[in-house]
Amino acid sequence: MNHFLHTSRPNPKPWPTKKPSHRSPLLSLSLLALFASLLFFLSYYSLTPSSPSPISPFNRTLSSRFPQCTSSQAPFLGEKFLWYAPHSGFSNQVSEFKNAILMAGILNRTLIVPPVLDHHAVALGSCPKFRVSSPGEIRVAVWNHVVELLRTGRYVSMADIIDISSLVSSPIVRAIDFRVFASLWCGVKDFDCFLASNEQSSLFDSLKQCGSLLSVLNGKVDICTYAVGEDCRTTVWTYQNGDKDGVLDSFQPDEQLRKKKKISHIRRRRDVYKTLGPGSEAESAPLLAFGSLFTSPYRGSESYIDIHEAPRDQRIQSLIDKIAFLPFVPEIVSMGKEFAEKNIGAPFLCAQLRLLDGQFKNHWKVTFLGLKQKLESLRRSPHPIHIFVMTDLPEGNWTVNYLGELARDSHNFKLHLLREEDELVIETAKKVMAAGHGLRFGFVPEDFGIGGLKKHCPSEILPDVLLYIEESVCSCASLGFVGTAGSTIAESVELMRKSGTCSKQSLTKS
Ligand SMILES: *[C@@H]1O[C@H](CO)[C@@H](O)[C@H](O)[C@H]1NC(C)=O
Ligand SMILES: *[C@@H]1O[C@H](CO)[C@@H](O)[C@H](O)[C@H]1NC(C)=O
Ligand SMILES: *[C@@H]1O[C@H](CO)[C@@H](O)[C@H](O)[C@H]1NC(C)=O
Repeated sequence: MNHFLHTSRPNPKPWPTKKPSHRSPLLSLSLLALFASLLFFLSYYSLTPSSPSPISPFNRTLSSRFPQCTSSQAPFLGEKFLWYAPHSGFSNQVSEFKNAILMAGILNRTLIVPPVLDHHAVALGSCPKFRVSSPGEIRVAVWNHVVELLRTGRYVSMADIIDISSLVSSPIVRAIDFRVFASLWCGVKDFDCFLASNEQSSLFDSLKQCGSLLSVLNGKVDICTYAVGEDCRTTVWTYQNGDKDGVLDSFQPDEQLRKKKKISHIRRRRDVYKTLGPGSEAESAPLLAFGSLFTSPYRGSESYIDIHEAPRDQRIQSLIDKIAFLPFVPEIVSMGKEFAEKNIGAPFLCAQLRLLDGQFKNHWKVTFLGLKQKLESLRRSPHPIHIFVMTDLPEGNWTVNYLGELARDSHNFKLHLLREEDELVIETAKKVMAAGHGLRFGFVPEDFGIGGLKKHCPSEILPDVLLYIEESVCSCASLGFVGTAGSTIAESVELMRKSGTCSKQSLTKS
């Protein structure tokens, strides 16, 4: 049952780890650019003659504020976009990212790549209980959180962490960075550079307001946007599966739930291409905005997206194959390998022990038992067994449990772990930011000057990359991997191991 409820499955390392990096010598330059852009922004708005009243999502005069939607000389050049609202922990966000890539492929739209969200920033709820945030609510929560990440200098693109180069280099999928998209969409330039400061708060308010149009619950907003109103309570998306469009899904709210909650939802299976693709009302909108794209198997069905193959569409079939596993960017994978080879320097076992938060608090016994059994099967050699431990339980709490036992038994075991403050972790974070993969690909209008944006806007705060390096280390564990049952992190490590990430990657020369 639980595996369906992991809509709010937590990460071991809550994201918002603030770590000030060195101020760049280019800071003054970026402040200048910031000031110029602020002027630009203010004049943009004061030149717009429309009313000062807050943007109403239903107000069609909106389009006059976003000229890109109305005219052919638009910076979008006829390009069509797809936005969605990820939520919860990193692993969930990755699985939604994959679904978004799939949807963008099927609907032939340019995917707006979001940043990695803070773990507890946005929650979806529970699909089986028919208790979820509406698509409109979750869209706005995500948009506002993203603006907050920008404001506090903590923005890290999903594509800075997850390597999508193999997808966008082929013509299967087009992508655009959220910052580039929002700059155009909201008529703000270079807001990646805006650092936390009171002077810009109005600017970020405006950005939030610009996103508020996504809050619309259902259907077409204006000529700019089609906001998808279907969610896991009403719809299971399919693609070319031979079902008659609109047939009932096998999972429906039961009688009890219907009575108790007065739920009238009926879940239908609908072909996403027929519903939102060519010939549909949604097709003409430059921006198509989904809510959550989370899905999970449940009672023989899927909670929201049931697209596992596309035998009649070679393009989509190959996309499905490609997104089955998306690796971390090379900067991360190679650091994991380096740690395995240089710091551990021996065959080792990886133990991923998820012990805190939610359901995992109550399953210590089972979690430790798995490790114990694995170790017993290994204990033959006279040398200590090397174990790389990734856990959310602070070291100070190890003493009274099995981890403490292992740590004290240095004759038989040698434990290794990574800490946020380790040089290798900090170095990786710097490399990830310097590489800036997220801004390196995709649809960028020629006059946008993205090169400048990238060079002159150093992120103020290093991202927390510990979890990703830990997973990469575990992909290299030659004695095996013991994960925590039900943890999406364990699933992710298993995938990496199956795909042979570790052996494929050569060490970085630095
Ligand atoms: C849209 O905005 C205009 C200009 O402020 C206003 O006159 C009009 O009443 C608004 N319409 C709706 C539906 O909110
Ligand atoms: C997808 O969209 C692009 C650009 O909008 C267009 O050139 C291409 O023909 C479309 N492909 C398909 C399969 O519709
Ligand atoms: C971990 O240790 C701290 C400090 O001793 C204690 O307050 C906390 O309850 C412990 N947590 C767990 C899960 O044992």
